[in-house]
Amino acid sequence: MPVRLWLTCPADVMPPMLARLQWLGVRRLQRYLYGPLCRVSALLPDTTDTPLRVHWLWEQGRQQGLTVYLYAGNDTDLPFALPFLPPLRTEQGVFGSIRHPTTQLCLALLQAVGLDAKRVLDIGTGTGVLAVAALAGGARQVIATDIASTAARLAAFNLARYPSERWAVVVCDLASALRGCFDLVCCNISADVLPPLLSHLQHDLACDALIVSGFTAPEWRSVRRWLRSRGWCVDQWRFLNGWLAAFARRL
Ligand SMILES: C[S@@+](CC[C@H](N)C(=O)[O-])C[C@H]1O[C@@H](n2cnc3c(N)ncnc32)[C@H](O)[C@@H]1O
Repeated sequence: MPVRLWLTCPADVMPPMLARLQWLGVRRLQRYLYGPLCRVSALLPDTTDTPLRVHWLWEQGRQQGLTVYLYAGNDTDLPFALPFLPPLRTEQGVFGSIRHPTTQLCLALLQAVGLDAKRVLDIGTGTGVLAVAALAGGARQVIATDIASTAARLAAFNLARYPSERWAVVVCDLASALRGCFDLVCCNISADVLPPLLSHLQHDLACDALIVSGFTAPEWRSVRRWLRSRGWCVDQWRFLNGWLAAFARRL
């Protein structure tokens, strides 16, 4: 399935962006005007390096000081939309207010892969936003971890609207305190934690599906290489304003 992208910017700066889109070989380009803004939707060929091409396009706009909003991904026809979430308490110093692109990308992938009756592990939960989204989306149970006890306390507060047998919050490094089976593991921290996380998944946790985020497009090749070398294959990816998230399955 080809990659679809949605590019939004002020209408008067769209022409140079369109020239770059043509250069990337886009197809089925559609243009919509929303007052002073222009949105373009188009298809790109899906190659292993397409996320890097999308990133190049976004950088081109940014380098010229343009306000460009760029969302892209394979295996999707849906423009970006946040799921409905109950209100979350936030605190200074605890990440996870829904505003960051990496959180938004994880939310988009959680929606895309489906959560019905799944047992989910949310590593680096912050405010608990992804854990709450998983329960709101139909997950049977969520275990959330964070290395920071302030974040874990806040996540527990935000999760407390759900019955206590459906969730738990654990303070630990990645998932080092946990053993067992999960249907889906989600980790929005950084590219650096991926090698130790994948090693832990290989030895101590049974899981066949993984959402990872917290890395930028230039880190894409390393992330893909690490995933492959540990027996994971990227099924879906999403790009939002310089950031990437991937959904991988065990080969
Ligand atoms: C980028 S935030 C993500 C928060 C939330 N999951 C989201 O998607 O918005 C990363 C979180 O991971 C936690 N963290 C960082 N390193 C960690 C580690 N080694 N083990 C567990 N949690 C970690 C941080 O304290 C922070 O709350």
